[in-house]
Amino acid sequence: MLRSMLFVPGDSERKLAKGALSSADALILDLEDSVSADRTAIARTMVRAFLDAPRAPAGPRLWVRINPLSSPAALPDLAALVGGAPDGIMLPKPDSASDIVLLDHYLTALEQREGLVPGHIRIIPVATETARSMFALGGYAGSSRRLAGLTWGAEDLSTALGASTNQDASGGYAFTYQLARSLCLAGARAAEVQPIDTLYVDFRDLDGLARDSRLSRQLGFAGRIAIHPDQVATVNAAYSPDDDEIAYARRVVEAFAAAPGTGVVGLDGRMVDMPHLKQAKRLLSLAAACAGAPE
Ligand code: COA
Ligand code: MG
Repeated sequence: MLRSMLFVPGDSERKLAKGALSSADALILDLEDSVSADRTAIARTMVRAFLDAPRAPAGPRLWVRINPLSSPAALPDLAALVGGAPDGIMLPKPDSASDIVLLDHYLTALEQREGLVPGHIRIIPVATETARSMFALGGYAGSSRRLAGLTWGAEDLSTALGASTNQDASGGYAFTYQLARSLCLAGARAAEVQPIDTLYVDFRDLDGLARDSRLSRQLGFAGRIAIHPDQVATVNAAYSPDDDEIAYARRVVEAFAAAPGTGVVGLDGRMVDMPHLKQAKRLLSLAAACAGAPE
């Protein structure tokens, strides 16, 4: 379960130390955009040392964002890090699912070299960062058994599209970025992996983050990116079902159990049918997973 994935710049000793204490479901140790190009090698060494250090069993899963496969830094990133047995690789700027297939092959070769169980390291692409990627979001199903989720980002996409802003007149995401977000959500569900929403930029505004994240979960996202440790508790809470939701889901399941062979029942004066039962069951299994987080 990945409700909160906290980005930690891979070349910052203080942030790595702070990240280790976080209750994020996962850290994303970053080698890409939060690290300047002249510090890539230092960041690789620091991230590898972080992966090699003893890990608390209940601590965050450790993911690494490598550089894009189109850049000369990607293979050296992987060669340096796979031996540290990260839980997953976040892949920036893929054009399509064929980049996932290529990364899967690289990982299999490197896992073999390092004596790791092949297939163990998962993959989440940042699936909306190039112009081409927008036409490929429906293609991730079946690309790799390593695929654990899809996430999206608006910053690199606006650069790729030649835009100077990704906002509309009201300050929300402009249509193109709402489209990217919706296609990421549908693409992840089509591939039967977790849709992970993008970051909330204003990291001091926790009320805004809570509101935005609750809405995001209601729309179907399973979690989101965090950029500051203070965001993690709010994000974890927003993507976990609350007591009222759990109680209602139990009542839906019980109403169907009490009426065997029925496809539709009335509950509190409202019609409840199969999609509601599926939602209720999904919510209860999410609640069970949250109780035992992180997975
Ligand atoms: N991970 C771990 N620790 C972090 C952190 C993060 N993402 N962001 C901040 N911290 C730490 C700081 O180091 C500081 O701890 P310290 O006093 O021991 O040094 C503490 O949390 C408070 O930080 P604060 O002063 O509130 O923030 P800041 O101004 O230092 O940093 C950012 C603000 C945005 C630069 C920082 O949060 C950050 O680097 N975020 C991640 C950015 C990133 O990875 N982007 C790429 C993906 S979009
Ligand atoms: Mg980026």
